[in-house]
Amino acid sequence: MNSKKKIGIIGLGYVGLPLYLLISKKYETFGFDLNEEKIDLLKKNKSYISDISNNELKRLKKQNILSMDKIKSISKCDYIIFCLPTPLKNNAPDMTFIISAFNRMFKHLKQNQTIILESTVFTGATSEIFVKKLNKKFKIGRNFYLGYSPERIDPGKDAINQKLEYKNITKLVSGYSEKCKTKIIDLYKSIFSNIYPCKSIEVAETAKIFENIFRAVNIAVVNEMKMITNKLKLNIHDVVDAAASKPFGFRKFVPGPGVGGHCIPVDPIFMSWLAKRKKQETKFINLSTVINHNVTSWTLKKINQTLPKKRKLKCLLLGIAYKKDINDYRESPSLKIFEKLKLKKNFSIEVCDTYIKSFKIKNKIYATRKVNNFKKYDCVILLTDHSNFNYKKILNESKLIFDTRGVFKNERKNKIIHL
Ligand SMILES: NC(=O)c1ccc[n+]([C@@H]2O[C@H](COP(=O)([O-])OP(=O)(O)OC[C@H]3O[C@@H](n4cnc5c(N)ncnc54)[C@H](O)[C@@H]3O)[C@@H](O)[C@H]2O)c1
Repeated sequence: MNSKKKIGIIGLGYVGLPLYLLISKKYETFGFDLNEEKIDLLKKNKSYISDISNNELKRLKKQNILSMDKIKSISKCDYIIFCLPTPLKNNAPDMTFIISAFNRMFKHLKQNQTIILESTVFTGATSEIFVKKLNKKFKIGRNFYLGYSPERIDPGKDAINQKLEYKNITKLVSGYSEKCKTKIIDLYKSIFSNIYPCKSIEVAETAKIFENIFRAVNIAVVNEMKMITNKLKLNIHDVVDAAASKPFGFRKFVPGPGVGGHCIPVDPIFMSWLAKRKKQETKFINLSTVINHNVTSWTLKKINQTLPKKRKLKCLLLGIAYKKDINDYRESPSLKIFEKLKLKKNFSIEVCDTYIKSFKIKNKIYATRKVNNFKKYDCVILLTDHSNFNYKKILNESKLIFDTRGVFKNERKNKIIHL
């Protein structure tokens, strides 16, 4: 442990907690969160993030895990890293989580500290939130430092690429001034293997949004291709796999029942919102949002068209998480599909998700269940391709399978509907 630097992390969620665990291997690290329940769980070594085991939490220094009531302790930290949510509110970026945490700690800030924002934000947000207020108390670049370093963590195991070890994901860094940037590089080069210094905070903010727009647009294209190939009676996965054999100029993206999570459905809209503010039209971004939304309705329509015409149907939905091997179901397309199917008459629906015990929609909590017998269902709708589902059993026992993830792409049985 390098005792010289002390690090404070604000927000111990999907981004903040893994970062805490990584940084605390080297430096004394303090973690702050508003959610007392999460703090309690951490103190009991109970992980709420599927990528982090209870065992890994054993090495957390429990006295350093603090609620925001103890934010005074932030004055001990050399670096303060913000990992707070940045959702949409009325289709516009909502920066209030960052602003309120910053306001709460402001009087405890002291000279020569460095603030690093890791949350995904619209271009210009870091300056808009921090600069004016910080300059009332300090001189940024001289006796206080500010920068932006977007988080690129990839929760779960990526469907196509081998998951990169977290510390090996190149870290973008940027600073309000050269001195600010140097301060941030000083810290991150001792933690991450590769650092990419950006020319300005705005470049780093925009690069992060662009990465997610790139993903959203490519997912939309492959989803659109899926809807066309379905009409052509071709399996999209056969087409994608064939195209992916090209060693250049093609990057493989896989289709699904829609997009979810805190990034892909949200971040592209930051850019279209900002472009509108600047009176610049956006087309690709808007279209990708529409297509990725439409593919969920298309999936539902196909399911409804294919379901057997029986008086009563019992259905199992497999996977509520927005992608494989994680317990995050924010914005998951499974929620919409579940809600719509639940409204059907003479239709009962159960949910199985090996990573999620219960989920909440509009303040109502639904339990998931463990399933060992797939024979009792009239149909199984596979929405999330968790690695630990028993696919052999699912294939053998199910009467009808809607496969939205290409798990059974090589099976040509009538009971499998490839969507
Ligand atoms: N989840 C991802 O895969 C991912 C990847 C890259 C970037 N990001 C970005 O990182 C940021 C954080 O995302 P996340 O998924 O970790 O969110 P999260 O909701 O999992 O975690 C945020 C944490 O902050 C806490 N919090 C909220 N308001 C607070 C406040 N005022 N003071 C202190 N704590 C507060 C919450 O209790 C929560 O534990 C977002 O901007 C997101 O877009 C997320």
